[in-house]
Amino acid sequence: MKDRIYIYIILVTATFYSCNKPNRYQKSVDDYLQLDSTVLEVTTVADSLHVPWEMVYHNNKIIFTEIAGKVKQLDLHTGHIKTILEIPDVYQKRTTGLLGLALSKNDATAEPYIFLTYTSKKDSTITSNLVRYQYQTDTLINPKKLLQIKGNTAHNGTRLYVDQHNIIYWATGDAYDFPLAQDSTSLNGKILRLTIDGSIPKDNPIPNSYVYAWGFRNMQGLAIDEQGNIFTSEHGEAIEDEINAIYPLHNYGWPLIEGKHDLPAELELAKHKKLTQPIRSWTPVIAPSGLAFYSSDQIPEWKNSLILATLKSQTLRVLKLSEDRKQITHEHIYFSNRYGRLRAVMVAPNGDIFLSTSNRDWNPQKGFPKASDDKILRLSITNKTNSITLHEDKPDETKKAKGDILYKNYCASCHKEDGLGVKNTFPPLVGSQRIRDSQAFVDVILNGLDGKKPINGILYGTLMPSFSFLKDEELVEIINYVNRQFADGKEIGTDMIKKRR
Ligand code: HEC
Repeated sequence: MKDRIYIYIILVTATFYSCNKPNRYQKSVDDYLQLDSTVLEVTTVADSLHVPWEMVYHNNKIIFTEIAGKVKQLDLHTGHIKTILEIPDVYQKRTTGLLGLALSKNDATAEPYIFLTYTSKKDSTITSNLVRYQYQTDTLINPKKLLQIKGNTAHNGTRLYVDQHNIIYWATGDAYDFPLAQDSTSLNGKILRLTIDGSIPKDNPIPNSYVYAWGFRNMQGLAIDEQGNIFTSEHGEAIEDEINAIYPLHNYGWPLIEGKHDLPAELELAKHKKLTQPIRSWTPVIAPSGLAFYSSDQIPEWKNSLILATLKSQTLRVLKLSEDRKQITHEHIYFSNRYGRLRAVMVAPNGDIFLSTSNRDWNPQKGFPKASDDKILRLSITNKTNSITLHEDKPDETKKAKGDILYKNYCASCHKEDGLGVKNTFPPLVGSQRIRDSQAFVDVILNGLDGKKPINGILYGTLMPSFSFLKDEELVEIINYVNRQFADGKEIGTDMIKKRR
């Protein structure tokens, strides 16, 4: 009898323990975030990763891509990470590499398919590949190339999403060949729609074409809500980052038009051509990235919102959607200067949100990467807080700003805050001959450069965008700031800008 009781106690204890023991692994609690009434706990669930670019949830695991070519699996119960695939022919340089990832929603008993997109290079030709694998007991087997499109050293997109009817949506980049986005026969700068076998669905809007919508530059986020509404995030050239609501056969305007149709030339163009405006745009740019739709009751403040990771602004943004899901009604900003660049966002079935950092990519921001980067973070509800509880951040600094803020907003993403640029990619402003010559400097800012002439012996090959959309006073602020900081050139006034416009 005593033994029985003893066993009973053990059983009860064991059951109690297994029910209450968090069946979730965590390395550390990093922060608490106070919303209106909910408190979220931010925990690190994986660290020391290399640019985890996209994540999907499967059976209490996160399957994720790393940009250099690995697919890994994180067990959320034990924290164990396993490499389940290494793709040998991934071409990784700057923004290219192993990028998109999606999972087919087979019935519960069948193993899903995993879809990946990555760039490869043969001789001098870069290709963007969509490949399907079969997921089988922690490995990926039987690769099948579904589609190959033109790639380039930049603007490869790319995000993937498989909807509940097992239709694949592929958000592609313009492959740095802007006119392709408006060319209906090209698959670049498009939302493509495919079956899981890579064929063209019978109900596609253009018969015998993968093309679903067009006029995109470089999409970096793709989300579909439970009603089937599609949303993307996209990088603008130097201004006008965008969130778009995607409809079949709509033309989103790139490269004819950027952002909202608000400048005189844009309004004129939009009169004659049917072009769809973004539902949100940002100037100065924030570099929007991964996007997910939040439908859970777990965090009521965020229900029916788009959750957006951003790179340049290094924040998480929650974009509340209107009832009809056609507009964004509020924007909330979190985690400024906390985790660095955020690349991917994923919502687990229980309402937990996972974010990945991107501090080991080609463009790390000041103070990063930290030794433990890159990380996967989990946001989940808690009833605890502590003295360093975080709150929502203030909205972005307004456009009317002094030289240093204008420089930070418009120039530092490429030329960096210290003016040293990025080797062989963006020229240094420190020591630049051109900025000492006020007239030449004003011309560069007003007209941009085409990247075709070497600067100090280096051929950069990418264009310097025009900033003629800025007001004369703003240009003067930036030019004088750059001169003061990096060159001790002559101060200029608005007369000089007016003369060169
Ligand atoms: C999207 C990236 C990007 C942004 C943003 C950008 N630039 Fe540039 N910039 C470039 C590239 C690329 C070049 C080289 C172009 C070439 O080789 O023709 C360049 C060249 C220049 C040069 C010529 C340097 C020299 O020594 O000849 C100046 C000056 C310059 N940029 C200033 C600015 C200022 C000021 C801003 C902010 C208002 C700015 N740039 C924003 C990418 C950028």
